[in-house]
Amino acid sequence: MCEYVIEGGKRLFGECSVQGAKNSALPILAAALLCDGKSVIYNCPDLLDVDATANILRHLGCSVSRNGHTVSVDSSEAMGNEIPEPLMREMRSSVIFLGAILAKNRKVRLSTPGGCEIGLRPIDLHLDAMRRLGAQITEEYGHIECTAPDGLKGTNITLSFPSVGATENIIIAASTAKGTTTVINAAREPEISDLADFLNGCGAKISGAGQGTVVIEGVKKLTGSSHSVITDRIVAATYMAATAITGGKVRLVNIIPAHLGPMIDLFEETGCKIKTDCRSVCIEAPSQLKSVKMIRTMPYPGFPTDIQAPVGAMLTKAKGTSVIIETIFENRFKYIGELIRFGAKVRVDGRMAVIEGVPALHGAKVKTSDLRGGAALIIAGLGAEGETVITDIKHIERGYESPEKTLSGLSGSIRRIDKNGSEESD
Ligand code: UD1
Repeated sequence: MCEYVIEGGKRLFGECSVQGAKNSALPILAAALLCDGKSVIYNCPDLLDVDATANILRHLGCSVSRNGHTVSVDSSEAMGNEIPEPLMREMRSSVIFLGAILAKNRKVRLSTPGGCEIGLRPIDLHLDAMRRLGAQITEEYGHIECTAPDGLKGTNITLSFPSVGATENIIIAASTAKGTTTVINAAREPEISDLADFLNGCGAKISGAGQGTVVIEGVKKLTGSSHSVITDRIVAATYMAATAITGGKVRLVNIIPAHLGPMIDLFEETGCKIKTDCRSVCIEAPSQLKSVKMIRTMPYPGFPTDIQAPVGAMLTKAKGTSVIIETIFENRFKYIGELIRFGAKVRVDGRMAVIEGVPALHGAKVKTSDLRGGAALIIAGLGAEGETVITDIKHIERGYESPEKTLSGLSGSIRRIDKNGSEESD
């Protein structure tokens, strides 16, 4: 059992480098299963979700090793086609293995990933797409079995919603299908383009990734290659929100500012000054943040649902009233119950949160229930007066690599305490 202890009220300043993107690394590692031989993935963040992905790959017969931020996957001996329930439960996005295993072994058996803290998260779009590619699917007692004895066949697939995971599963599965697959209304997130770049480096023929229509010409085989994962735009924006709530000034390096578009607009609306160059963003916060009229989460290039909670925490200290509408996941305001313990004034009505800024937050003992909601609690703790203790931090560690080290490097006061042992770092 570990927790973060934060002494709030310290202005963040300095420079920090941003980790590789979790949401790129996970599908790329899953796609490595489909590539003959060895793939080497650079800039892979050191996270619990990446460990869980590596464990699934090992279970399927891959040899996986990590050296710092470099993960190597050799899939030469990978004949497995079943992911047991405990591994599926560890990480909801393990459904990303569906397309890779099906394409490689023509058969896959998974347990249904089920709902999670942020919503029901059905996988109907993934399954419909696999059916369109020629798979036969049976679902019973919480398990899904997909078979394609004659291999997958290219086709046109129109997604009713631009699901990130479904787009990734289709791209992976269609890479070695017979013929051409066209995905209409595909997700356009930068992580989709990153996946396509990796697969194209392995011999795939994918065009249009990052746009609404993606065309995948199936190839006979993919061969492992090396790839460097893009930086994490959500982590970058989280550290920007942390800087803003403390009235600080921070330069984030090793990032792709173009991926931060709508988030930069929002920070400017709160009165922050933003300067970008090709690989960095500098944020300088005013002494008093301003509220924002309305944030509506949307698929990329709209405002990301993943940054809604960190920004929600930041706005609790902004002058005036801000409104957030969450359109992507139905249960993504759980963190707000915890924000109220800091003295925040927030009302939630269905998918809308109304935040009335308060002059000060005070430290609190709070509990994390999901990844981004956990990041929001760190931000509130940094912006609060006095001590904050955050428990259940494993949720945060699914997506943020040593946030205590990054924030301490920016003069924040945050320690990670191992309740069974001693203090680990600060
Ligand atoms: C990915 C990201 C997650 C991000 C989300 C939206 C990864 C590992 N996770 O999740 O961090 O918050 O995109 O940007 O990349 N839906 C269905 N049926 C489906 C699939 C999705 O109804 O078959 C719904 C979901 O319940 C949700 C919405 O579509 O309401 C968006 O989901 P999706 O884009 O698929 O998100 P994920 O790929 O799960």
